[in-house]
Amino acid sequence: MEISKVTIPENELKEKYTDEKLLEFGKTFTDRMFKIEFINGEWKKPRITKYSPLTLEPSAIALQYGQSIFEGQKAYRTKEGKLNLFRPEMNIQRFNKSAKRMAMPEVDPEIYMEGLKTLLDLEREWTPKNIGSALYIRPTMIGTQGRLGVVPSNEYLFYIILAPVGPYFPEGFKPIKIWVSERYIRAAPGGTGSAKTAGNYGASLMIGQKALKKGYNQVLWLDAIHKKYVEEVGAMNIFFVYNDILYTAPLESGTILPGLTRASVIQMANDFGYTVKEEALSMEEIVMGTKDGTLQECFGAGTAASIAPVGCLRYQGKEHIINDFKTGGITQKIYSSLIDIQYGIVDDPYGWIVSV
Ligand code: COI
Repeated sequence: MEISKVTIPENELKEKYTDEKLLEFGKTFTDRMFKIEFINGEWKKPRITKYSPLTLEPSAIALQYGQSIFEGQKAYRTKEGKLNLFRPEMNIQRFNKSAKRMAMPEVDPEIYMEGLKTLLDLEREWTPKNIGSALYIRPTMIGTQGRLGVVPSNEYLFYIILAPVGPYFPEGFKPIKIWVSERYIRAAPGGTGSAKTAGNYGASLMIGQKALKKGYNQVLWLDAIHKKYVEEVGAMNIFFVYNDILYTAPLESGTILPGLTRASVIQMANDFGYTVKEEALSMEEIVMGTKDGTLQECFGAGTAASIAPVGCLRYQGKEHIINDFKTGGITQKIYSSLIDIQYGIVDDPYGWIVSV
């Protein structure tokens, strides 16, 4: 596959960040992007262009009806200067599942992978070096046809942009505070909860802002029917630890994003000898667990957020503190093991890493 590449004159290249510790999540973008259009039922010529604004019909279906999907990936820089992708084939699979759910064409996995590798190779200098920092990858597909009938677009743009990022939570690897949403829900059975589509995130913004204003980093969503069972957090899946058993919400309801980090945590925890149960856990049980101390730990797991210890859940007007607001041993062990694989500090025993 031939990917054409733009040559950007030296004086048009962006000034790179000077201190990677000051990078905020998703605010800085690299010089180039990967692009490919779907027109008349086929994918056209893939190319690397300058990172630049898109020209869209004001009536584009993506803008009018939210026909828009994305992925979240990271390239981690190793000591030797290689860029490590973490289970990229899973991202591609999930992307194409999201595409199907949103009546969009699938992207050829080879085009996705080659486009990504070519872009990364050109932009590798943008990758931060510190553990906890990375080059965040945002593959996106939007319906670009301009029309107002509620039908799928017949034209699409698939693109990949890159953002050098620091930790998702500015505090770094420290316990966060979470607001449990008792009124608003994220996804209902039969809806789009398991797809990585823009509307799921758009619908979460209002309550997320409300929580942030009150001092909480994220929102925990409960199931839509009973408003009782924990599902996931705004930017990550969530795990609870009781008696050294890890619990996380099951995927069967179709309301939960099937996280790559979630799947990797389950596999690693099993290999460390812990039992992992993908079972519905109610807020009632969690509150009890914080009271009698049986709830040992709680942590979030996601690509952007990595592993995020949770120190407090605000529910029914009260703050429920977990593990004295300290990072637990299992959370720490999983975080360190994951980071070690991603940054190439240890050999990858799973075959999860693809180096560029
Ligand atoms: C990710 O973890 O990469 C995500 O896409 C979650 C969020 C930043 C939207």
